[in-house]
Amino acid sequence: MQDLQSLETEITAKLAVATSVGDVENIRIAELGKKGRVSLLMRELGKMTPEEKNEFGPKLNQLKNTLNAAVINRKNTLEEETLNIKLQSEGVDISLSAGSGDNGSIHPITQVLDEVTEIFTEMGFSVAEGPEIEEDFYNFTALNIPEEHPARQMHDTFYFPEDDEGNRKVLRTHTSPMQIRTMLEGEPPYRIIAPGRTYRNDSDATHTPMFHQVEALVIDKNIHMGHLKWCIEEFCKKFYERDDIKIRFRPSYFPFTEPSAEVDIGCSFKDGEILIGEGDDWLEIMGCGMVNERVLENVNLDPKEYQGFAFGLGLDRAAMLKWGIPDLREFFTSDLRWLKHYGFQALDIPSLSTRNSSIKRGK
Ligand code: PHE
Repeated sequence: MQDLQSLETEITAKLAVATSVGDVENIRIAELGKKGRVSLLMRELGKMTPEEKNEFGPKLNQLKNTLNAAVINRKNTLEEETLNIKLQSEGVDISLSAGSGDNGSIHPITQVLDEVTEIFTEMGFSVAEGPEIEEDFYNFTALNIPEEHPARQMHDTFYFPEDDEGNRKVLRTHTSPMQIRTMLEGEPPYRIIAPGRTYRNDSDATHTPMFHQVEALVIDKNIHMGHLKWCIEEFCKKFYERDDIKIRFRPSYFPFTEPSAEVDIGCSFKDGEILIGEGDDWLEIMGCGMVNERVLENVNLDPKEYQGFAFGLGLDRAAMLKWGIPDLREFFTSDLRWLKHYGFQALDIPSLSTRNSSIKRGK
């Protein structure tokens, strides 16, 4: 009978150099399988004397067990190694920085709207929204712009075809109809802003047929022009991030406010660029005024008891001024290169959003 010890050593050595689970399996079949060397030895036991059996039996069993365990061990080790190699080659390296990637960016109009909303909500205003397809009554009549009033011509209105009752809906030409909707729906006092899309049949470098406004309306007892001025000045300082911003109220005319004014901010034009907050030039940024008594009467408020002010601000214009964007039409061409340049990266807090490129503004 072969020396069991040397057999064990020989087979164990073979197992140790096997490089795949398949190799290990071949060794197992060759040594421990039916016709394997260990099995043949087992068979020889039958021919042995009882004494020999007693001596070799347990040793052979032991050898069989040891080798079986060695086979399982080697298989496990090889499987683990294969798995590790696979994990390493297929794994994601989470320590790698993500890189800038191609994230979307916030459109300057959205950014301006977020900033404006934040400034006014901090002052105690709430936000109201209304339809872009508006009834003539809200867009004009209730705002003291009756049919055939010349002010209707100022607006280059997009009209819908007449309905069966002879009414023509319009694409709202301003956000002022929200004044009427607000006052007809609720109870004073009111302090609202109403941002949204507005439409006029007009198109050049500073006008697009669709543009954005924010309406503000304050109605309460004992409201006067001083409140209006403070509110607008405060807004401009915060929005343009300068305390020394120059503001001018220039008398103007709107049918729904009396007195009415247009608000200009001080600026200068240098090398085709507008610098806000310095220089001797002026730029118009909004219309405003004390709500006309006729409008108050149209919404069943007694002008002796309630007064208020309103203003309407062009959001697109505000974005152009704040960030020095020259052509308004580019806002709406959906050119990704433009959005990459002028867009903002989104952070959780709107006021902390950052511009992709540097901000051009006077010091
Ligand atoms: N609705 C006016 C416009 O679009 C602006 C405005 C709003 C003026 C509120 C006065 C008061 O030109």
